[in-house]
Amino acid sequence: MKKNKEKILITGGAGYVGSVMVELFLKKGHPVTILDDFRYRPTSLLHLCQSPHLSIVRGDVRDRAVVKPLVAGADVIIPLAAVVGAPACALHPQDSKSINVGAIKLINQLRGKRQKVLFPVTNSGYGIGEKGVFCTEKSPLRPISHYGKQKVEAEKVLMEKGNVIAFRLATAFGISTRMRVDLMVNDFTYRGVKEGCIVLFEEHFKRNYIHVRDISRAFYLGWENFTRMKNEVYNVGLSNANLSKLELCRVIKKYLPNLVIIASDIGKDPDQRDYIVSNEKIEKAGFKPRYSLDYGIKNLIKAYTFLKDSIYDNL
Ligand SMILES: NC(=O)c1ccc[n+]([C@@H]2O[C@H](COP(=O)([O-])OP(=O)(O)OC[C@H]3O[C@@H](n4cnc5c(N)ncnc54)[C@H](O)[C@@H]3O)[C@@H](O)[C@H]2O)c1
Repeated sequence: MKKNKEKILITGGAGYVGSVMVELFLKKGHPVTILDDFRYRPTSLLHLCQSPHLSIVRGDVRDRAVVKPLVAGADVIIPLAAVVGAPACALHPQDSKSINVGAIKLINQLRGKRQKVLFPVTNSGYGIGEKGVFCTEKSPLRPISHYGKQKVEAEKVLMEKGNVIAFRLATAFGISTRMRVDLMVNDFTYRGVKEGCIVLFEEHFKRNYIHVRDISRAFYLGWENFTRMKNEVYNVGLSNANLSKLELCRVIKKYLPNLVIIASDIGKDPDQRDYIVSNEKIEKAGFKPRYSLDYGIKNLIKAYTFLKDSIYDNL
């Protein structure tokens, strides 16, 4: 089989990152199989159903009988399925552990040594950073939340077996057919459009951001250069967007001039994310982000002006 026809299995392919990534791999000519339990928006993949190269399995990543034949049929596995974010994992600690770690162990056990894995990790694993010091891939991992701890553990499990690239992702932003409004840029822009006001806690806490389409492009780069990049971890973020919440709001205000920004003492990030990240390693590997923060915010504003709060059109 030619390299460009490698078969891709994407778990969680109906999600925010997945529904964008599936489209890219299909466009590049790959047969793609998705395993997802469709717990959120079941419409996120409708526009791709016409592709003869797309197969969709509705099922649970923890179900060995479902996962085994899918893993056996894949050249490349992209395990995106997860309970995502610190608040969701805090609400469902056991469920999230069994999905975020247990299902990754299952895939790892079922895969042969030659099957490749491209895996997303959160860079919240760096925990509380040191003031003014960029986190590199060599910085210690000090996750605080269940979510951060689970993702760090899953990365370790996969890396130990090898034939893996791990991408430590910045906070994603931008539009996807499974929209996540809980992500910081998406959330703040939403509040700006709908409420005209953003109340900030820990307004000087900094973090790094990346457009959801650039995440897919980083994964694709990993696939194209697998031999050169494998068995390494890479931070993936916009090097010109290590911004505090206040600085982020000021970017949003450029496009929503009437926006009111209020700092408050009430509120606490469960991961206490306050760090700046170096993305030099993946840039040296050839990654050039294409989508800026400004681009993402402008498109979010466009979408939010017509997007309803309810998924039911007639309500
Ligand atoms: N979005 C970000 O900012 C970000 C940052 C770092 C890492 N990540 C990682 O990227 C991946 C995708 O995140 P996302 O933002 O697309 O989240 P998402 O919640 O939109 O997608 C997760 C998908 O997994 C599916 N899923 C969950 N549990 C399942 C199960 N038991 N069986 C089958 N399917 C299941 C859901 O239905 C959903 O479609 C996750 O692994 C996440 O940890 C995301």
